[in-house]
Amino acid sequence: MARGAAVSLAVARIGAALLAVACAVPATLAYAQSSTTRVIPLDQLKSGLAYTGEDVRALQADDFANPGMLWVERGEKIWNTPAGADGKSCASCHGDAKSSMKGVAARYPAIDAKSKQLLNIEARINASRSGDQKAPAFAPESEDMLAITAYVNMQSRGVPVGVSIDGAAREHFERGRAFYYTRRGQMNMSCATCHEQNFGKRLFAETISQGQPNDFPIYRLEWQTMGSLHRRLRACLYGVRAELLPVGSPELLDVELFLAWRAQGLKGEAPAVRR
Ligand code: HEC
Ligand code: HEC
Repeated sequence: MARGAAVSLAVARIGAALLAVACAVPATLAYAQSSTTRVIPLDQLKSGLAYTGEDVRALQADDFANPGMLWVERGEKIWNTPAGADGKSCASCHGDAKSSMKGVAARYPAIDAKSKQLLNIEARINASRSGDQKAPAFAPESEDMLAITAYVNMQSRGVPVGVSIDGAAREHFERGRAFYYTRRGQMNMSCATCHEQNFGKRLFAETISQGQPNDFPIYRLEWQTMGSLHRRLRACLYGVRAELLPVGSPELLDVELFLAWRAQGLKGEAPAVRR
């Protein structure tokens, strides 16, 4: 009973805080007519960095202070360390990541030519890790996975996000978009309720941003560690008391593709810092 009461108390508390947010939602949601109509026009896109504070911006801007750089350094070691059946490192095949990986992360999620599956950058790294390097894949959300992702994604710093939704990617995009606009959880809110109708408003200690994905993996001060986009999405699902989908699940991959399409042109920021 105590547990149930605690949960409903917590829900009531969030509910009260969200009331102001929900009341601000117009009766007719600005739900786009055509599936490629942009609710937030391209010239009004803003990185989440714009909604953090001075302190967070200063941390992210300084590579010596940015805690995410510890994962980048670990990732660089992995890049250069031989592993797998043939004793090859990532560098043996890909050379200097600064050139070979430049702009790669900005194109993901993408349909993989070999498997015809939609892969995000983590899954693509793992496909090469197990398929080309013949070494055991990195476990989801492990320190090594976050480190190699931070290292690869950092090579797309300043590169505009630009994914394809053509061909086989299209159905993933449509599913991701439907997921985005579906109300869910005890709070009965969609992603758009917060990130399209209420960005710029306060929610507890945070200012709601447009929910853009151009910064991952992030060092989040609340976590005191690094986390992937999927970890962040789980935190949002938890916030509205909706079903927590696992990291790497098809639903989160689809919504990741929609988010990347929606963020077209925003520049890569990994490793970023967030509250
Ligand atoms: C034995 C050689 C080999 C090794 C070792 C290897 N790769 Fe690859 N990798 C390839 C090949 C071949 C491809 C597919 C062709 C391409 O797109 O460059 C590829 C593709 C990739 C891609 C997708 C590139 C793109 O443009 O979409 C990424 C990312 C990647 N590898 C990361 C890694 C990482 C990280 C490691 C080490 C953990 C690694 N690879 C180890 C051979 C290798
Ligand atoms: C109740 C409001 C709320 C809902 C609903 C919500 N989020 Fe969030 N989300 C937040 C808050 C608060 C943060 C942290 C501050 C920020 O960046 O907005 C956040 C952060 C994010 C970020 C990281 C932004 C960055 O710059 O690092 C992404 C991406 C995101 N949300 C996507 C989603 C998606 C996709 C959904 C739907 C599954 C969703 N959110 C639902 C409140 C919400």
